[in-house]
Amino acid sequence: MDVNYRWALVAFSVLLMLQTGPTSAQILGFYDMKCPRAESLVSLTVQQAVARDPTMAASIVRMHFHDCWVEGCDASVLLDSSPAWGPAEKEAGPNQSLRGFEVFDAAKAAVEAVCPGIVSCADIIALAARDAIVAVGGPTWQVPTGRRDGTTSTATSAGLNIPSSLFTYSQLLMNFLNHGFSEDEMITLSGAHTIGRAHCSAFMGRLYPTVDPSLDPAYAAQLKARCLPGGNPGIVVPLDPGTPDIFDNSYYLNLGAGRGLMPSDAALLNSGFSTSISQQNGQNGQFWTVKFANAMQRMGMMNLKLGLLGEIRTNCRVRN
Ligand code: HEM
Repeated sequence: MDVNYRWALVAFSVLLMLQTGPTSAQILGFYDMKCPRAESLVSLTVQQAVARDPTMAASIVRMHFHDCWVEGCDASVLLDSSPAWGPAEKEAGPNQSLRGFEVFDAAKAAVEAVCPGIVSCADIIALAARDAIVAVGGPTWQVPTGRRDGTTSTATSAGLNIPSSLFTYSQLLMNFLNHGFSEDEMITLSGAHTIGRAHCSAFMGRLYPTVDPSLDPAYAAQLKARCLPGGNPGIVVPLDPGTPDIFDNSYYLNLGAGRGLMPSDAALLNSGFSTSISQQNGQNGQFWTVKFANAMQRMGMMNLKLGLLGEIRTNCRVRN
């Protein structure tokens, strides 16, 4: 083999590994020696939180998505606003409905009590999201650790990155491609909406002034009974009306039956490719589950701060 070609291959492989795979600073069992109980303490905290409130699993998973999508998985979503950076990510419109910050505080307190200054908030979010999916009957995947925490957080960046429930199919696709995710991964990850809830404001436009004809009429009537114009802004509706706290593939079956809740859910049927992937995911839940776990693992590796970058926060809400 030509020497230059061989070097180019080596350089390419290293680059690929740096971009997509675990690096030397991000490895399975990163805490085995430094803080052996780290992963089990996070798991326990999540299990307790979900046992107390089953709706919390979805909120934990969403937190991970909103963390990784904005400046990478660096727990910047957990930081409070500060004079240093102004309004934080959590103040951005789409983040105002995030919940579960106290679960991350509890997990952090549990690990700090046994090994202070070792376990990052970013790793806690990635581990907790996996544990939350498992807690509601979903698949598991390995979470390489060693992420470090970001030192800044801005609402502007969150506003620019988090997709809106009002996005069209091409806006959704652009958003995912820009974040390094394929069309199939976008459809596959959207299946996370098989758990959790949305506020009426996220889909009111499908009910009033006229009902979106692509909605199943009986479902639309149920939604209208719950979401009244000028009604209580705190009211939420399950994303999957049948099994909102069970990780199954009914999200895709709902889509096909006109029971996708938000415009962005229904939009998945606006392209031939995504319609056929959604149908596949609906027909073969096991196949979707494997794709989901792989995509979640990849999401957890977005734009990481490793090595000397970032810090290990003592309190997930403030930088050190
Ligand atoms: C495809 C683009 C997406 C859009 C436009 C979107 C938008 C939304 C919106 C508007 C809500 C309701 C928030 C509320 O009103 O309280 C929501 C909930 C949720 N989203 Fe997404 N989302 C998307 C993708 C994802 C992905 C990729 C994941 C995870 C992998 C995810 C996980 C969740 C979960 C679990 C909930 C329920 C949260 C809870 O019950 O607290 N979403 N999403």
